[in-house]
Amino acid sequence: MSQSNREQWTSRFGFIMAAAGSAVGLGAIWKFPYVAGTSGGGAFFLLFIIFTLLIGLPLLLCEFVIGRSTGKEAVSAYKELAPKTKWHWVGIMGVVTCFLLFSFYSVVGGWILIYFGKALTGALSNPAISYEGLFAETISDPFIALGAQLLFIVITILVVSRGVQNGIEKANKYMFPALFILFLVIMVRSLTLPGAWEGIVFFLKPDISRIDSSTILAAMGQSFFALSLGASAMATYTSYLDKNVSLTRSAVSVVSLNLMISLLAGLAIFPAVFALGFSPAQGPGLLFQVLPAVFSQIPLGGFFLICFLALFFFATITSAFSLLEITVASLTQKKPEKRRKASWYAGLGVFLLGIPSCLSYGVWSDVLIFDKSFFDAADYLVSNLLLPVGALFISLFVSFKMKRELLQSEFVRGSKIASRFFGIWYAVVRYVLPLLIVLVFLNVIGIVRFTQ
Ligand code: PHE
Repeated sequence: MSQSNREQWTSRFGFIMAAAGSAVGLGAIWKFPYVAGTSGGGAFFLLFIIFTLLIGLPLLLCEFVIGRSTGKEAVSAYKELAPKTKWHWVGIMGVVTCFLLFSFYSVVGGWILIYFGKALTGALSNPAISYEGLFAETISDPFIALGAQLLFIVITILVVSRGVQNGIEKANKYMFPALFILFLVIMVRSLTLPGAWEGIVFFLKPDISRIDSSTILAAMGQSFFALSLGASAMATYTSYLDKNVSLTRSAVSVVSLNLMISLLAGLAIFPAVFALGFSPAQGPGLLFQVLPAVFSQIPLGGFFLICFLALFFFATITSAFSLLEITVASLTQKKPEKRRKASWYAGLGVFLLGIPSCLSYGVWSDVLIFDKSFFDAADYLVSNLLLPVGALFISLFVSFKMKRELLQSEFVRGSKIASRFFGIWYAVVRYVLPLLIVLVFLNVIGIVRFTQ
């Protein structure tokens, strides 16, 4: 288990910033506010908090334990913990999942860069332009959209190729706090607009009648997507963590930051949207059409739009680092000196795989796989199939394959009170998690539908 030539995070803070940076991304900024808004507002948020604590936190600890106990990247970690078995396929599946996820994540990353450029040149601050038309035009232009996607991937490569300390940790140490501050700025601006109250009510008022079993399961699914769970990305990040740092305390910090950002996202976005009489739209529509229109109408809107796009960029790129790192770590487990080369090959591979997703918003919009565009099909495959299945295997692996003593020693190290919670965590991981994840999974693929 020699870790002599393996890099490590320089501090617990660096690790937490990197892990929180991976967690906070499109899940918190794009998916969460919309789903929360339309699925019971405050009641959904409450459910999301409960599931984040009940499912997200225990699962995060599973990945943490796998990564830190071996100090190896995903595939070798499973090989070491369960030699001569097929469990390393969970690691391989994680690498594939992250590769595919990055291929369409980077499409949205490219759009953010294009909008950032437009915002800087003032092209978005004219209230007379059609924001819908502008968005459609931007994402359907193959050269611009592909070029921007490539740029987003190249920025990720440049950071990841510099290594864990000099690349990923350094970038996250600045970007994550910056993201947090920018969110606070936007939130204060948004909450002080006349008419903001309606948006707060829309986002936070618990509407129990909107909650049914499907919403409950959606909140569960969201809770582990938003924490980057199920793809062994968090396990890979934790393999660079010093042996003496407490895993439990770190996990609680990452989870708290993630919940806080989700709250900030809702409070930053909805009051502004409602105050100016827009209706909340889903996903790209909300972020690329409605928000620029909103910002174009408020004092200093151009400045706030630039802040928003910067925070959106930071959130997305810090998740992208983890998506690329898992592949690079696998390719360089035996030869760390090949990191630069591996980053470029993996990144350019992601770009090639992402071309159909990018073009599915333009010239290939009528090419459908199972009735879905390339982008939607890839998203469906990752979010609804690969991540829940990965999460299920991870919980089974930890509770049935790993030795209880090893789990316990990793769990309690560095924290005095953690020992009191070990028994509960172990029971939850062994019995509750697999059952709940199977339910989420059957629901998302449509086998189980609950009606009231
Ligand atoms: N957590 C990221 C988000 O919310 C997505 C992600 C999932 C990243 C799995 C890495 C691994 O956007």
